[in-house]
Amino acid sequence: MKVVNVVGARPNFMKIAPIIREMNRFPAIQSLLVHTGQHYDFEMSQTFFQDLDLPMPDFHLDVGSGSHAVQTARVMMTFEDVLEREKPDLVLVVGDVNSTLACALVASKLCIPVAHVEAGLRSFDRTMPEEVNRLLTDQLSDLLFVTSPDAVDNLLREGIAKEKIHSVGNVMIDSLCVCKEKALASNARARLGLGGEPYVLLTLHRPSNVDDPVILRNILQSIQQISRRAKVLFPVHPRTAARVRSLSDPEFGSDSNGIIFTNPLGRIDFLNLLMAASLVLTDSGGIQEETTFLQIPCLTLRDNTERPVTVSLGTNCLVGTDPEKIVQSAIQVLSGEWKHGRIPDLWDGHAAERIVQIVRAAFC
Ligand code: UD1
Repeated sequence: MKVVNVVGARPNFMKIAPIIREMNRFPAIQSLLVHTGQHYDFEMSQTFFQDLDLPMPDFHLDVGSGSHAVQTARVMMTFEDVLEREKPDLVLVVGDVNSTLACALVASKLCIPVAHVEAGLRSFDRTMPEEVNRLLTDQLSDLLFVTSPDAVDNLLREGIAKEKIHSVGNVMIDSLCVCKEKALASNARARLGLGGEPYVLLTLHRPSNVDDPVILRNILQSIQQISRRAKVLFPVHPRTAARVRSLSDPEFGSDSNGIIFTNPLGRIDFLNLLMAASLVLTDSGGIQEETTFLQIPCLTLRDNTERPVTVSLGTNCLVGTDPEKIVQSAIQVLSGEWKHGRIPDLWDGHAAERIVQIVRAAFC
């Protein structure tokens, strides 16, 4: 069988790597990789191919940045050519980025079955572009691989047949397990000027947090307060970097008051820093899962999450964007007061094996 696997944006690389590695163990599966080029900077794309031992893409669509419509349309037009040429038996997409939906839609119109990895997650907030991508991708998919029981409930409620839904665990955790040894050996902490002292790791890139200057300024001010208690390491996403620059405030954007700003980090260095952090502040979805798995306290700077299991079982707390709440919660964690969680079922490093087994049973 021939499978076309799709990646486009940073979190996709981590999710696809274990799946491709597993597919490549079976000679009966010809696995191709398409990179849409939604993310293209070295730090947002190429570095992950090295860190994750991902094979170079068979097709690079070079779509780049653009409005949602432009980016989605460019992916669709170029991806259609790939599918016309390769005529695969299955298109496998991961996550919830624009490339995910665009490729699922093209495949579906060409009557090529679609597998969606990380199906069923819902924030119930349609102002979030990813929520629209999730809902529509799931409607178009034939095989839906889910990470948690809430995702199964969401899909059933939306009318997806239960035969299509498979609880397989979490490929993000597979990827973490594979990289852990290498990450432990990284010297990222020393390179970034962190000694043995406690530190906070911050990531921020959601449009709802960074595109509104008032919200962004509030968050950065609360981070400044936290940095008086512990150093804050902040690898800055390109969207966020542009927004911080447009605040035109010399206070933000250069190392000061215990905040260390860096470019986005590769997988190995980032995991090294994640594993030793005293606290993680984030608006990323994947990091909520990784902190739950590593049992590190995580404060999510959002009012909702599509990954509720990280709150109900894991170490994640939603603190929103109110500066006082952020500072208060961080201080609480830094003084040792935080909820310890447990790891969700099937988050055991073997999700990709289950996925490929199901794909083989369906197609080989
Ligand atoms: C995208 C995903 C989001 C995911 C995030 C991970 C969508 C709708 N959003 O958000 O779900 O959590 O990736 O990082 O698909 N840029 C660069 N270099 C790059 C890529 C982007 O400079 O390599 C800049 C461009 O100015 C671009 C902006 O970042 O306009 C936003 O990029 P885009 O891919 O549109 O969305 P993200 O915010 O990265």
